[in-house]
Amino acid sequence: MALKETLLVTGGKGFIGTNLVKLLLNSGKYQVVNLDALTYAANPLSLADLDQNSDYVFVKGSITDRELVSSLFKQYQPVGVFHLAAESHVDRSIVHAEDFVQTNVIGTFTMLEAARVYWNDLPADRRKSFRFLHVSTDEVFGSLGLDGYFTEETPYAPNSPYSASKASSDHFVRAFHHTYGLPTIITNCSNNYGPYQFPEKLIPLMIMNALSGKPLPVYGDGSNVRDWLYVEDHCRAVKAAFEMGMPGEVYVIGGNNEQKNLNLVHKICDVLDEVAPPEEISQLRDSGLKSYRELIRFVTDRPGHDHRYAIDAAKIQRELGWQPQVGFEAGLRRTIDWYLSNPKWVDQASGGSFGDWLQQNYAWRAEKESK
Ligand code: NAD
Ligand code: DAU
Repeated sequence: MALKETLLVTGGKGFIGTNLVKLLLNSGKYQVVNLDALTYAANPLSLADLDQNSDYVFVKGSITDRELVSSLFKQYQPVGVFHLAAESHVDRSIVHAEDFVQTNVIGTFTMLEAARVYWNDLPADRRKSFRFLHVSTDEVFGSLGLDGYFTEETPYAPNSPYSASKASSDHFVRAFHHTYGLPTIITNCSNNYGPYQFPEKLIPLMIMNALSGKPLPVYGDGSNVRDWLYVEDHCRAVKAAFEMGMPGEVYVIGGNNEQKNLNLVHKICDVLDEVAPPEEISQLRDSGLKSYRELIRFVTDRPGHDHRYAIDAAKIQRELGWQPQVGFEAGLRRTIDWYLSNPKWVDQASGGSFGDWLQQNYAWRAEKESK
């Protein structure tokens, strides 16, 4: 049997990273070194079952730590990098933009510099096959009107501090390919959903608030549109881009599944009404709640809220043969089932300082909620 190749994954304890590390290990082809700083967004229970797996090494540390990153390249001699570590939440970037510059811009630059030095010294065949896969977002393209789609040709127009920091990191990745020849690939994906997503993001927030009888805060009038992709489909796409994509190329990835926020929240409530009706939840039994839809509240809009994202994923489908496998109804049910079946993970994610942080920092949201 061929020897397994070693990959350096950053941010592998986060939502997409956790799903990606599982996919890579399950393929039987790779060993994974997972570098993650364990910020608030990482859950220590994610991937805890891999502690004894000899194909997996976890390293707690920051992508901004050049010495550490260089030492990992030297020690593990990876055939490539999946770079996911980032501050990932738009709302948080509105109140704490600096963290996004540090991690997403400086951190990505640090990864690129360390990778370049390591890659420069590799023998010719390994230099050729090395890949630096940068996982990015469709938010770098700004906001769409009622029609049209983002493609690889769409000009950059980031609107939030988060998307500005991701756009900056994309530009550094592109420049390292153009200037130094580092074999980089950029993927820009739409909204992911599925197991292990931290409950600051729309879908898990709605599921967890509903099950605790808390308000379901819909920003503005709920007409904003997102293109939702099941996280395992995204992971299959980035794996395909890493294994088959061309250096210097960009691939946009999406679910071809546009949903208005309010419709999506209705769907979540309807599935929950069916699989976990309020009268069967001990905490809610005496609340008089008949349907989770009763918890929906329209709150003040997110400042600078992008109206619509949608992806034309024809290039990755045509060139790499990728397309989504999980339909939205099935994916949403699978996600809700996962949150219902993993109470320890949920407790860990919703405990700690996260609730206080929300109260203190999301001023625009708290305002209208209290009216
Ligand atoms: P996440 O917030 O769930 O996880 C981020 C992970 O990065 C966490 O484990 C965190 O501890 C780690 N991290 C943060 N700062 C770090 C640092 N300085 N050093 C090392 N590790 C650090 O994010 P996610 O939703 O899994 O997103 C992963 C990547 O995918 C991000 O780059 C994001 O921009 C991109 N992306 C996300 C989506 C989405 O819908 N979630 C869509 C497209 C692209
Ligand atoms: O498009 C890809 C991006 O998708 C990723 O790059 C980001 O990392 C990821 O967080 C996500 O960004 P969004 O801002 O689209 O995701 P979020 O889950 O925060 O919000 C989805 C939509 O729901 C958005 O229109 C805002 C709205 N929303 C969100 C929350 C948290 C609400 O109406 N109420 C809420 O409480």
